[in-house]
Amino acid sequence: MAEKESKINIPGPKARSYLDRDRKVISPSYTRIYPFVIDHGKGSEVWDVDGNRYIDFSAGIAVTSTGHSHPKVVKAIKEQADLFLHMSGTDFYYPQQIELAEKLAEIAPMSGEKGIFFTNSGAESVEAALKLALHQTGRPHFIAFYGAFHGRTMGALSFTASKPIQRTGFSPFTSEVTHVPFSNPYRCPHHREESECKKNCICVDYIEETVLKTKLSPTQVAAIIVEPIQGEGGYIFPEDSFLPRLRELCDKHGILLIADEIQTGIGRTGKWFAVEHWGVEPDIVCVAKGLASGMPLGAIIARSDIMKWGPGTHANTFGGNPLSCVAALATLELIEEEFMQNATQMGEVFIDELKKIQKRHPSIVRVEGKGLMVVAELAKDPVSKDPDPELQDEVIQRAFKKGVLLLGCGTSAVRFVPPLNISKELVEEGLAIFEDALGEAEEARG
Ligand SMILES: Cc1ncc(COP(=O)(O)O)c(C=O)c1O
Repeated sequence: MAEKESKINIPGPKARSYLDRDRKVISPSYTRIYPFVIDHGKGSEVWDVDGNRYIDFSAGIAVTSTGHSHPKVVKAIKEQADLFLHMSGTDFYYPQQIELAEKLAEIAPMSGEKGIFFTNSGAESVEAALKLALHQTGRPHFIAFYGAFHGRTMGALSFTASKPIQRTGFSPFTSEVTHVPFSNPYRCPHHREESECKKNCICVDYIEETVLKTKLSPTQVAAIIVEPIQGEGGYIFPEDSFLPRLRELCDKHGILLIADEIQTGIGRTGKWFAVEHWGVEPDIVCVAKGLASGMPLGAIIARSDIMKWGPGTHANTFGGNPLSCVAALATLELIEEEFMQNATQMGEVFIDELKKIQKRHPSIVRVEGKGLMVVAELAKDPVSKDPDPELQDEVIQRAFKKGVLLLGCGTSAVRFVPPLNISKELVEEGLAIFEDALGEAEEARG
């Protein structure tokens, strides 16, 4: 890499100066793990304020789906900015919002008519879904999963259960939620002995046989909210029977199924929505992150017979703002035309390459992915598979110093979530650096 040498003193002088200023004025609650201060980005590459180049395997936490500043997205935003910046869809109408709603209804993973409610973020989408479920069913309780991340606003936080720090100090929570285990074939003890596990589906049985028989009457449960693939919780890919069985359970008891596709949706896994991999139709879908390539935008998509709340029941000022809507329209067109296919192909390259790296580095104990939602799980040793959070941190830090932006997930995993249009060359270049960083981190661990 041309800039390799210049990365010896990361953070450089300009970055250091911003870090000092940041420390004085920005909330310390953010979770920055290395000092990357961006100057600009293009596609799947970014440059810091000192001129160092990096390959971006993080996409701003799975957000810049069409790469940094895709010209088509930028052009749409610029043209819209000349027309009008805001008019509030709550009180007025504008074609951009209607057009985007029509497109989302077209691609949504459920049949029949659909309605869309626009938001500004993932947490806000979750809030809207929960309110809609309460309003529609008149039932007070929810079921969510351990390991889930649904956001940090008070309603969404009631459902989040991936790290204690996220909840500590914020009780009482606002929604009545019962958490249950998520299907996790990798951690399931039965899977270690049997290739086809019959018992891992206990999480659905557990809801049916335990929760609904001892704690909650099914008639009191408004909805089950689930990430089809757990994201922040560790990129956990469930048993194939898990989501279909959840759907059956919901149908049996008139419970709504809410799919939180905020990280998994909009082409990330090689399909518009991850639930499509299992042929499951949710009642409500939450989206945000990759929808508008980095412009703040979220939405819920619900069956029209569910989205039946009257004027004034729910609304916001900025949700579905025109700049984000045109960015989303351009994003969806690009993803549909070529990037979703690229996500599938590049996802395969990631898996193949990571499996080769795994052969040389037994500290990698799991390589899994769908599209460009890929994980390499690290462990202290391949037999116990005990998590190794220090190694996880060390690899991420070293990769950063060598020019690759990575993010962790769970307690011991590295996730690979680059823009959906990343090239094979950049995947290979970035993974070679990842392997270098891993080798050094293993050596440092001893
Ligand atoms: C699955 C999932 N749901 C909800 C959220 C919350 O989104 P936001 O940070 O935009 O509020 C996230 C964010 O990481 C997420 O991954």
